Amino acid sequence: MEVQFNDVSMTYDGSSRTVLNDMSFTIEDHSLVSILGPSGCGKSTTLMLISGLLFPSGGKITFNDRDVTRLDAVSRKVGMVFQNYALYPHLSVIDNIAFPLKMAKVSKKERMETAREFADLVQISDHLNKKPNQLSGGQQQRVAIARALAKKPSILLMDEPLSNLDAKLRTVMREEIRRIQQQTGVTTVFVTHDQAEALSISDKVMVLDQGVIQQSSTPMDLYENPQNLFVAKFLGSPSINTFSLDQIADALPERLVAQLKKKDVETIGIRPESLTQTEPGAGLFTGEVTHIEIVGKERTVKVKTADGTEVIIADIPVVFDVGDQVSFGSKPASLFYFDSEGIRMVISDAE
Ligand SMILES: Nc1ncnc2c1ncn2[C@@H]1O[C@H](COP(=O)(O)OP(=O)(O)OP(=O)(O)O)[C@@H](O)[C@H]1O
Ligand SMILES: [Mg+2]
Repeated sequence: MEVQFNDVSMTYDGSSRTVLNDMSFTIEDHSLVSILGPSGCGKSTTLMLISGLLFPSGGKITFNDRDVTRLDAVSRKVGMVFQNYALYPHLSVIDNIAFPLKMAKVSKKERMETAREFADLVQISDHLNKKPNQLSGGQQQRVAIARALAKKPSILLMDEPLSNLDAKLRTVMREEIRRIQQQTGVTTVFVTHDQAEALSISDKVMVLDQGVIQQSSTPMDLYENPQNLFVAKFLGSPSINTFSLDQIADALPERLVAQLKKKDVETIGIRPESLTQTEPGAGLFTGEVTHIEIVGKERTVKVKTADGTEVIIADIPVVFDVGDQVSFGSKPASLFYFDSEGIRMVISDAE
């Protein structure tokens, strides 16, 4: 099912604030798309508008070119999975999965067959007769996913489905969601504020801030080609370092600085993993090592420059101690340039 938003906006009843502003996007059939953004940016609102549990204040929503803007959730045939599994506590696992089919008046034999099939898919077949309170969080979420899929939804919508699980189980379950989505081919929209979750399982990620789509692209492209400072800062862990042009202009070739000034470049971003140590004074900046963290194979170093800027450096050989003066630089091709509005500027012959 292909989903399209055309200039959709949303203002909640009784509120004067526009939560979503002229939002337009296409979710391709059979794809898994994540909506990623900070708390309050409008992720759940977007999902509810796709579902038909909420209606937009303006604009048009289509499913495979069919206008569904005013259709309710039942007519849209969406499947939903929430953070709190919302299973029926008095029903067994199998009856929970079969419940939507019972509502749809599917015969008992057929609904039990279908429920078993989806229990198999989500790997919960060993627990069919248990009640939800006899299951772990991850198992309950498997049941919720099977229940949503059993009615063969037009689209599967998931709102932070993993946030009640511990870190390790979250990683297992996000891979499970990807597997189940690929096995069934169901178009899926997955809401999260966790970038690792979004980036690891999605065909495309839609980055949202304050009700406006900042960028919608593949995980790789968002990381390598952020279109603005918000996306550059939101994706990547640790987060990208930023300098004002004035701070490091002296360390850049004059010709490049002239070009940057012409394009109104104000901010320069450098990812922690793009920095490498240089001869003293030869890099983009020099500072004092304030912190060295080694966790397994991950290395994170903090350096404070003379003007007080804290720079984070990752994935480097640690051949210095806290308190040492060190210099770091980066290939010009690894620098990101942003103008005074935070829009990414691509400087053609930066080398
Ligand atoms: N029923 C409502 N009435 C009025 N305003 C609302 C309502 N529901 C949400 N909002 C507002 O709309 C904005 C977007 O909310 P939404 O729940 O979509 O954010 P979110 O991105 O899902 O956040 P979170 O990550 O915290 O779940 C918020 O500012 C919120 O306060
Ligand atoms: Mg939400």
